[in-house]
Amino acid sequence: MGYKVALVGGGGIAVSHLEALRRMEELDAVAVADISKERAESVAGRFGIAAYTDYRDMIEREKPDIAVVTLPHFLHKEASIHAAEAGCHLLLEKPMALDARECDAIIAAVRRAGVRLMVGHTQHYIAHNRAAKRIVEEGRYGKLVMINDVRHVNYYADTRPGWFFEKAKAGGGIFMNLGSHSVDKLQWLTGSRVEQVKAAVSHYGAKGDIEGSGLAWLRLANGVPATISQSGYPGGVSRNETELVFTGGMVKLMTGQGLWASEGGAYVEIPVEQEELPFVLQFRDLVRYIEEGVEPSSSMDYSRSVVAVVEAMYRSHETGTEQNVAGEAVR
Ligand SMILES: NC(=O)c1ccc[n+]([C@@H]2O[C@H](COP(=O)([O-])OP(=O)(O)OC[C@H]3O[C@@H](n4cnc5c(N)ncnc54)[C@H](O)[C@@H]3O)[C@@H](O)[C@H]2O)c1
Repeated sequence: MGYKVALVGGGGIAVSHLEALRRMEELDAVAVADISKERAESVAGRFGIAAYTDYRDMIEREKPDIAVVTLPHFLHKEASIHAAEAGCHLLLEKPMALDARECDAIIAAVRRAGVRLMVGHTQHYIAHNRAAKRIVEEGRYGKLVMINDVRHVNYYADTRPGWFFEKAKAGGGIFMNLGSHSVDKLQWLTGSRVEQVKAAVSHYGAKGDIEGSGLAWLRLANGVPATISQSGYPGGVSRNETELVFTGGMVKLMTGQGLWASEGGAYVEIPVEQEELPFVLQFRDLVRYIEEGVEPSSSMDYSRSVVAVVEAMYRSHETGTEQNVAGEAVR
C-alpha cells in the first residue's frame, strides 16, 4: 500500500492525474471530490475510487497523504490551505493562484503545516522540452540570444469549461492559463527568471470578460530577451512553437510534437526518446520531495514567480508601461 491520494476536483485534468496514478505502485488513488455529483460519480466509477461532493468531507473521512488540487484557479488558495492544514502534502495545478499575494498565503500555510507542496508545471516533464533544455544547458549551438514563443488556439471553443472565461474565477484569459505555460517554459528552459515585461492584450472574445490575445516582450535575469505571442480567437491554424536563437544555430520546439535544429539551412528533426508519462514523472518528483526533501523544479517560490510575471503583463497593459516583475514600473 502506497501513499493515499485524493483528487480535489474531478474535471478534465483530474483524469490525466488518475491515469498516471494507475501506473504507480507507490501511490494509491482513493477518492475524488467534485461539486458536480454526476461528475464525481462518473470519474470515481471509472477509476474504482470513492466519490464526494465536498472536498472537506473527503479529506476528513479519507485522511489522504496527498491531495491533488485540480480546481478552477479562484479556488486554489482556499483548497490548498485547507488540505495543508489537514496535514496533506499537495500537488497543486498551475497557475499556483490568482495572484502573487494568494501564492504567499498558500506558501505561509504550507510552511506552518510542515507539509510539501509542488505545482503541476507539466512542461518540465514533456520529453521534447527536456531535450531542448539539455541543448540550452550544453551550449550545443553557442550562446542563447533570444527566444520567441508563439501559441495560437481557438480559446473560445465550446469544449472549454465556462469558468475559464470569467476573470474573477480564472484570474485572466489566455495569458493566465496558457501564458503561464509559456512563462514557465522560458524560465525553466533557461534556468533564469523574468525580470521585466512590456505587454498588450485584447478583449474581443465572444464570451466572458477575459483577454483573448496577448503579446509580451520579456527580459530574463540572464539578459536574454524573449517574446510571447498568444492568440485565442477562432480562425487560423493551431500553433505551439518556441524558437530559440543561438549564436551558432536555431532550435524549434513544438511541445509534444517535435524538436528541430538548424546550423544553417532547413531545420533537421532531432530524435527525442519517449519517456514515462509526464504526469507520472511529476508525481515521482513529489514523492522524492516528500521522502528526501529534494525540492522540485516547480517549487513554491518558482511557481509564485510564474504568477508574478503574468500579473506584471496585465499591469503593463493597463498602465502602458514596462513593468518590473517585482513591482514598480521601469522609468
Ligand atoms: N498542466 C496542464 O497541462 C493543465 C491542463 C489543463 C488544466 N490545467 C489546470 O488544472 C486546473 C483545472 O482545470 P480543468 O481543465 O480540469 O478544469 P475543469 O473545469 O474541467 O475541472 C474543474 C472541476 O472542479 C469542479 N469544481 C468547481 N468548484 C468546486 C468545488 N468548490 N469543489 C469541488 N469541485 C469543484 C468542477 O465541477 C470541475 O469538474 C486549472 O488550474 C487548470 O489551469 C492544467
